[in-house]
Amino acid sequence: MKIDGTPYRSVWLDTQDRWSVHIIDQTKLPWSVDIVQLTDVAMAGHAIRSMQVRGAPLIGAVAAYGLALALRADAGTTALERDAAMLNETRPTAVNLRWALDRMLARLRPLPAAERVRAAYAEAELIADEDAAQCAAIGQHGASLIADIAVRRPGRVNILTHCNAGWLATVDWGTALAPIYTAFEAKIDLHVWVDETRPRNQGAFLTAFELGKHGVAHTVIADNAGGHLMQHGQVDLVIVGTDRVTRTGDVANKIGTYLKALAAADNGVPFWVATPSTTIDWTVSNGVRDIPIEERAASEVTTMTGRALDGSITTVRVVPSGSHAANPAFDVTPARLVSGLITERGQCDATEEGLLSLFPERVEAELRQAS
Ligand code: MRU
Repeated sequence: MKIDGTPYRSVWLDTQDRWSVHIIDQTKLPWSVDIVQLTDVAMAGHAIRSMQVRGAPLIGAVAAYGLALALRADAGTTALERDAAMLNETRPTAVNLRWALDRMLARLRPLPAAERVRAAYAEAELIADEDAAQCAAIGQHGASLIADIAVRRPGRVNILTHCNAGWLATVDWGTALAPIYTAFEAKIDLHVWVDETRPRNQGAFLTAFELGKHGVAHTVIADNAGGHLMQHGQVDLVIVGTDRVTRTGDVANKIGTYLKALAAADNGVPFWVATPSTTIDWTVSNGVRDIPIEERAASEVTTMTGRALDGSITTVRVVPSGSHAANPAFDVTPARLVSGLITERGQCDATEEGLLSLFPERVEAELRQAS
């Protein structure tokens, strides 16, 4: 997608050296667009842990490139396993991280050390390109939800989203925002309610930045405003992304998503989740019980960062000193509250049957494993 007319992906190989990896430092957005050059696996690990890159699909892609960087230093099997394990520990909830590293290891383990670097870059490039293509397909499959509302009644379609599931959270296009960009390109009159998404403000900082740079009409709201807007008929549709979907359709996403789903159910507002297949965890059936929820630093709650009136970027404390803060970073929305899933293969119910109807090869794979 574009920033001021220039097309970007959120991660890319250096066009000259073809080995170092560029990312946009998302901790600096929206105040400045800082490009960081990753030159070793420690930098890649730091980028994921510190959330210079974040969003489930992007975390997976950067981990894949990180492993390629690691192999440049040491392509032996011991180092491969150690560096993959280090990357796998950087964040716990988004399953794309494990998925991408498992895929890289499956490709690299059988190879002699001398062939691993080239193969690792090729596989990481494939992972990145496939993610961009999957997200573009999610855009196509999800845009019909918006188009259907537009034909049913006159006026703007109002869509509410939480956190940032746009192109910054993936390699390109985004998940929840892909249908919005696709519908916008098709000239459907739409407007996006952007939850600010405390404590890290991915909505206010990143989603607002993306939509603004693309020219999509949007309004940032406090996280607590969604229910009120739904009660007053000002939300036609909720679309969010996800960090992990269970095989039964439970959805882990940024903290606060569950409350939006409850409010949507109470008000008859459709609540859709956009997910590439790389975010489905087929090994888990009960999301509330089994999805690990990241607990982040209390300082993300006790402080806020923004641009001061003199132009400087300032961090201020917003909680009395001495008060404790807790910071669970994700929650799980049970499948019963999800109207449907938008995947790269189309829409389905948030159920095991729904998911298997789109991904029937899972049935065969599991039968093979069981026999
Ligand atoms: O903590 P973050 O910013 O990595 O959390 C991101 C989200 O929760 C996104 O909504 C999710 O990863 C979907 S991204 C396409």
